[in-house]
Parts: sequence; C-alpha cells; structure tokens
Amino acid sequence: MPELGAPVLKLLAPSAGERILDLGCGDGVLTEKIAAAGASVVAVDAAPGMVAAARSRGIDARITRGQNLTFDHEFDAVFSNAALHWMRPPKAVLAGVRRALKPRGRFVGEMGGHGNTAAIVVALSAVLGRRGLDAHQLSPWYFPSAAAYRKELEDAGFSVEEIRIVPRPTVLPTSIEPWLDTFAQSFFGALPEPGRSSARAEVADLVRPVLMDETGTWIADYVRLRFRATLLA
Ligand code: BEZ
Repeated sequence: MPELGAPVLKLLAPSAGERILDLGCGDGVLTEKIAAAGASVVAVDAAPGMVAAARSRGIDARITRGQNLTFDHEFDAVFSNAALHWMRPPKAVLAGVRRALKPRGRFVGEMGGHGNTAAIVVALSAVLGRRGLDAHQLSPWYFPSAAAYRKELEDAGFSVEEIRIVPRPTVLPTSIEPWLDTFAQSFFGALPEPGRSSARAEVADLVRPVLMDETGTWIADYVRLRFRATLLA
C-alpha cells in the first residue's frame, strides 16, 4: 500500500544530491520515489526476500538488521516507513541511525504507535493466555506513544521538530485470518500444531464484532506514529 507512505515521504522532502538511507525498505516502492527526487539512496532490510525485490528495481539494497547498522556519518537523512515497530530494542536502532547521519542530519519516519492494532493485541493476549502463554512476552512489536518516542529520540541526541500519533483505520483486502498469518507468526508459532488454526479462529471471533463492518469489510485499528527529528551537532 505505497500510497499510505505519501505523508511521511512529504515530511522527508528529499532533494537532488542528498544521500539518504531507507531503513526497513521492504520491496523498495518508497525507496524508488526517494530516488526519483534525485537523491542517492541506500536501502536496508532484514528480510532477504524484500532486499531481492528492492534490488530488482535497481536499488542499492543490503540485508541488514536495523539494530546492527554500521554506517559512519555518511547520510543527510535516514528515512523509515512501517518498519521501526519490528526493531527492538529501539536504543540500538537509534544509536545506529545517529552514527549513520552527518551532523544536523534528519531522521524522518512513520511506524506503529501506541494503541496500534489494540483490539488484535488484546485478542491475541486472551487466546494465548487460555493456552498458558504470555502474548506480551512473545510480541515482536514496539508501538510507542509520542511522548515515549520523543524521549528515546532526545536521549539519542536528536531535536524533535514534529511527532504525532495518527489513527489510520486500514481496510484489509480480504479478512483478518490472512493478516494474522502474515503479521502474527511470532504468536501462533509458539503454539503446538495442531491447534494453531483453532487459536487463529478464536482471535478472529473475538475481534470480528469490532473490526468487521456491516458490509463484511474488515477494518484494522491501525495507529501510526509520524516524526521528524534532527541530529544535534
Ligand atoms: C505493519 O508492519 O505494518 C504492522 C505490524 C503490526 C501491526 C500492524 C501493522
């Protein structure tokens, strides 16, 4: 859903001649748009399949975890869309972003924010809890509030110009089950087979009354956190 990245791309405002790092580039759709502005872009992602997809677009994409960045004061900006909530702990990521930037470089991003997919998180917690598992321990996600992430950014040496929570109800193309298969593997993977599909059905039953509308359309309760910060010299 690349059009959903438009606001954060606007906030980045890439210009010709800049060197920009795309952190968690996915398939490179947004990276391509940054490059189209005339910037020279390096993209990283932890998933080899995503890096292959980005490379097939002609992007300089590399397999790297956001927690293990080794770039050295070489970028005018670091950009990230829909990826930072998969990277924990945030301090390790921010230390690498800081090191990657030139003095006064900017860090612009959008990620899952506080309350993101709250109904789904609560349902996962209930269903795994019935099976003796703690969903919060298993969660791969980090959904900070604006105040909490502002503090993380400031502690890492950034001045925060803008940071806000943006509720973004998101229509799912089909239903909740494929979404759970794609995004919630860390939870269901902790359950023995057989039993995963019945747990998945229980989650769907719990969230259906709040996430499915009268027409049968599933709308996930996405909440984003969007920010722009500058590295203090
Ligand atoms: C995402 O990566 O877009 C995402 C992850 C967890 C919950 C919602 C969205």
